[in-house]
Amino acid sequence: MAGPLPIGDPAPADGSLPGQSAIGASERTLHAYVHIPFCKVRCGYCDFNTYTASELEGAKQSAYTDVLIAEIKLSAQVIADAGLPKRKLSTVFFGGGTPTLLPASDLVKILAALRDAFEIAPGAEVTTEANPDTVNAEYLRELCDGGFNRVSFGMQSAVPLVLATLERTHNPANVAVGVAAAKELGLRTSVDLIYGAPGETLDEWRQSVIAAIEMQPDHISAYALIVEDGTKLARQIKSGLLEEPDEDLQADKYELADLLFAEAGFDWYEVSNWSRGEQNASAHNISYWASQDWWGYGPGAHSHFGGVRWWNVKHPTAYASKLADGNSPAAGRETLSHRTRLEERILLEIRIREGLEVDLAKQVNAEASKLIAGFIADELVDAKAAIGGVLKLTLKGRLLADSLVRQLLAD
Ligand SMILES: C[S@@+](CC[C@H](N)C(=O)[O-])C[C@H]1O[C@@H](n2cnc3c(N)ncnc32)[C@H](O)[C@@H]1O
Ligand code: SF4
Repeated sequence: MAGPLPIGDPAPADGSLPGQSAIGASERTLHAYVHIPFCKVRCGYCDFNTYTASELEGAKQSAYTDVLIAEIKLSAQVIADAGLPKRKLSTVFFGGGTPTLLPASDLVKILAALRDAFEIAPGAEVTTEANPDTVNAEYLRELCDGGFNRVSFGMQSAVPLVLATLERTHNPANVAVGVAAAKELGLRTSVDLIYGAPGETLDEWRQSVIAAIEMQPDHISAYALIVEDGTKLARQIKSGLLEEPDEDLQADKYELADLLFAEAGFDWYEVSNWSRGEQNASAHNISYWASQDWWGYGPGAHSHFGGVRWWNVKHPTAYASKLADGNSPAAGRETLSHRTRLEERILLEIRIREGLEVDLAKQVNAEASKLIAGFIADELVDAKAAIGGVLKLTLKGRLLADSLVRQLLAD
């Protein structure tokens, strides 16, 4: 979602899919991501495809729901025309941007359109991201009644100074209020944290982790702050106004979070994600890591069906105008080669608790055995599991996951 769109091949105006998308489809599950590209203000660190009111250039937030529903109808037609089997949605995820800037009734209407088009599988995980300042008990009740069963709150930090550095405008007290209200309704909950804001001390990070744990959500994501090119944060660091996140301090923060999460009953299941029991791991995230089929609705959203990947035009105005003309909003697409699919699997699967099969690593790198021996010697992977054929990261390995991937793919 972040940064410019890939180049790829042109996508056909009617959105029709190539034959490859249908191969093996009955063994894959179907998922929907719905992008809501609106934010009240842009946080200094964020380069997601999202727009404040002044950046919308004529696109209307109030008209967005109907535009999305047009893409949902188009998707049902495209999927049927491609000869794909009829599948119910196994997960639905509304992300942004700030989905909860729209009235709850709009989110429910979009979900109903997905239900009409595909049906939603019994027990499917249906999540929306939420900004803590934009929801209250009434709003959450409407979502719950409309079929949502999980809410992911953008907490980021509990420390006002850190939130100010990140240019987050929400009131930190509202996170606990929102999580409690969601739990009261029986919704599953998650909170997102970011570590490594310029100037954030280890103790401030500890306060945020403890505050998140005390809310007793079912799931916590903790992301290392990425300084994205072109953001205000990147400019502030370049000009010396703010300091760059320190790598050693970042590692200490990760280790501290993992320890406190584990003590509180949250197990890691992906490098940046912890849940209370396997049943609370995000089924939607897992579907991405397992290369299932998903349709991404909305401007800039990416989709993937059986190794065919495409992405929509980025601006909400261009997106709305394509759909108004009866065309697909896809801007480009690519059919992934066998090699690229293997590389993507390595990139994703090494980060999950179940680990990566050694055989996959060997398929992309003739020197994999030698590299893996080094990983074992450096205690980056579990020795016993590696000898048994699976690379499972140790805590030290999780801190260096990107470097391991670079080495495995550098053949
Ligand atoms: C795109 S946001 C959408 C959620 C919602 N708009 C919010 O921010 O509360 C999803 C999550 O991505 C994470 N995120 C966004 N930009 C990031 C960055 N530059 N570095 C690390 N994490 C980031 C934040 O934790 C955020 O909650
Ligand atoms: S609220 Fe979320 S999506 Fe919006 S600018 Fe901030 S981090 Fe990005």
